[in-house]
Amino acid sequence: MIAAMDISMTKIERSKLQDLNLDNLPFGKYFTDHMLEADFENGEWKNIEIKPYQPLLLSPSTAALHYGQAIFEGIKAYKDREGNAFIFRPRDNFMRFNISAERMQMPVVPEELFMEGMFQLVALDRNWIPSKEDHSLYIRPFMFSSDELIGVRPSDNYKFMIILSPSGPYYSAPMRIYVEEQYVRAVPGGVGYAKAAGNYGAAMYATAEAKKKGYDQVLWMDAFEHKYVQECGTMNVFFIIGNTAITPGLEQGTILGGVTRQSVITLLQEMGLKVEERQLSIDEITAAYKAGELKEVFGTGTAATISPIKELGYKDFSMKFDVDSWKTAPTIKKWLTDIREGRAEDKHSWMQKV
Ligand SMILES: Cc1ncc(COP(=O)(O)O)c(C=O)c1O
Repeated sequence: MIAAMDISMTKIERSKLQDLNLDNLPFGKYFTDHMLEADFENGEWKNIEIKPYQPLLLSPSTAALHYGQAIFEGIKAYKDREGNAFIFRPRDNFMRFNISAERMQMPVVPEELFMEGMFQLVALDRNWIPSKEDHSLYIRPFMFSSDELIGVRPSDNYKFMIILSPSGPYYSAPMRIYVEEQYVRAVPGGVGYAKAAGNYGAAMYATAEAKKKGYDQVLWMDAFEHKYVQECGTMNVFFIIGNTAITPGLEQGTILGGVTRQSVITLLQEMGLKVEERQLSIDEITAAYKAGELKEVFGTGTAATISPIKELGYKDFSMKFDVDSWKTAPTIKKWLTDIREGRAEDKHSWMQKV
């Protein structure tokens, strides 16, 4: 059990919820009534507060804006048919958050602050969790350096916050993916395994170039040979070749270890598929495609859950897939959604009740 935390609470006077149309929710655009804020000062966490969602007042010299010590997480809360609220595998995100913090030379956020803060905030704004299928409440914990000083060194002060955004289905349309050979996302020894804000800024140029060519996202390749598949936008990737599901391994430290990835590996194994976490080359993929053995390709991530890939563009070769004929990805997607929304048994205790 997590130790009780002293979190001060100031509630809004009038909820904004009644002004929102929950039927048509763009991802990440609307925020709930409250947020959590805490400060790391003189080596300890203080001013832990849940309060009305509001802008921050920041000095122009705030260190994170200049030197990029900033990390985040993405988690989802769901409601079952009885209206009970649950959060999906929150402890996995808590642990990944502190792995990112360590790599970015930031302070660890204690479990009771991260977890209890999140549960209290979600409990307070629980009416914002949509009960419609495929809808959820997206939870965004983040931390940034807050020293007011121009100078390249780790900050002494940090801010940890959690904000919440109700969300509808995301990325559900099958995607066209561009196999990126020029730009890279991460290198061994770098920060690819951390959910560091700069990783996303650094990816935007290549993604925009791929979009100009008519693709939705890039599939990143390894930095040295541009040969081994990494991940895709904000998703890990799975390739089903024959009866085996293959996803790139995490041992190089260049890929974010997705919580959805881990869950999908478990479910694929329960379906009786062999799962391999290993290096996978684009040559192996194209050979499997030409031999008719490449059955399904999909991305996994909190925002999208499972996103089928209908086309992979590699050099001037295009691999196209008839996603409507697939069996595995839709089964896994439905199963995971059913677990999250309380319609299927949660054998692994992934859902934590709010
Ligand atoms: C770069 C990157 N890879 C993979 C993922 C998928 O991770 P998860 O399943 O934990 O959402 C995400 C999303 O968080 C991501 O940003």
